[in-house]
Amino acid sequence: MTKIIRAKPFIKWAGGKGALLGQINGMLPHVFFTNKDVTYVEPFVGGGALLFYVLNHFPTIKRVIINDINEDLIACYKIIKEEPKSLIGVLNGFDNIFWDLDQEEKKRYYYLIRGKYNQRNSNVLQQAAMFYFLNHTCFNGLYRVNSNSDFNVPFGKNSINRICNPDLIMADHTILNKVNVTILCGSYQQVLRHIRKFNKVFFYLDPPYLPISVTSYFKQYSNSPFEKEEQVELKYFCDIISNKGGLFMLSNSDCRTEDGASYFEQLYSEYYCHHVSAKRFINAHGDRRASTSEVLICNYKNKSFFRNP
Ligand SMILES: C[S@@+](CC[C@H](N)C(=O)[O-])C[C@H]1O[C@@H](n2cnc3c(N)ncnc32)[C@H](O)[C@@H]1O
Repeated sequence: MTKIIRAKPFIKWAGGKGALLGQINGMLPHVFFTNKDVTYVEPFVGGGALLFYVLNHFPTIKRVIINDINEDLIACYKIIKEEPKSLIGVLNGFDNIFWDLDQEEKKRYYYLIRGKYNQRNSNVLQQAAMFYFLNHTCFNGLYRVNSNSDFNVPFGKNSINRICNPDLIMADHTILNKVNVTILCGSYQQVLRHIRKFNKVFFYLDPPYLPISVTSYFKQYSNSPFEKEEQVELKYFCDIISNKGGLFMLSNSDCRTEDGASYFEQLYSEYYCHHVSAKRFINAHGDRRASTSEVLICNYKNKSFFRNP
């Protein structure tokens, strides 16, 4: 019998928002609680922690647009939405082989699949399944590529004992079919082409963070840079959303200028900036977690209390 489990991210993703959901929930706009046809847009969806959270909690959402620049990640979303059983089939194949191997053989198998993944000559399903396999067996679920765009994360010692979680894949499949979901792959700006009216449209923007310091935990999701210039461009994108009458919330690191001021508070000076704290891995070895300060910037005024959906 299939276990009933809640939809949630099917991968581990650097910068995932699982730890901040309570704080984000308290800052969602009023429209989520009062209107019946809200559109939720997440242009940097990653693992989709907030996406699955809002789909579980807010029946007011009638339309969803998600996007990410990572094509294998987006292929996973599409396959889970449209043909989850084919993904489960391929992942079960990995499980059948992997768990009978000893640790050295597991490691060799991991590098074999990583090599095949980087050749990029498999079909979309195989490529997405290898992405899923690597995410579950690599070091800390990291996604990092080198200058040739080759995935280069080493094998990790993981505590999991199964790669495929069919119940979770089916729960995600069900929720992604409950409302009208558009899944896009590419740079974040393209989501605008899919929206005609901005009234009751809420954007959650969670771009690659600007590092707090040069030693900050490094996240390179793709070969497209996301540095200061891109952060400023994203601010203009937020202005467009706001001018058209949409609502947005944006997350980023609470990085500081040389004189100690909050960089994002200054950049988004005409909006509302909230400082929140999150437990994150703080170094490149992924072995130290600490509370870091982050910002949530909104173009609407929040209630000062936390609401439960
Ligand atoms: C901080 S992560 C998002 C994490 C996500 N909120 C979660 O809960 O897992 C940032 C995401 O932006 C994506 N990305 C990077 N540059 C992008 C771009 N120019 N356009 C769209 N997505 C991009 C990365 O692939 C990554 O998934």
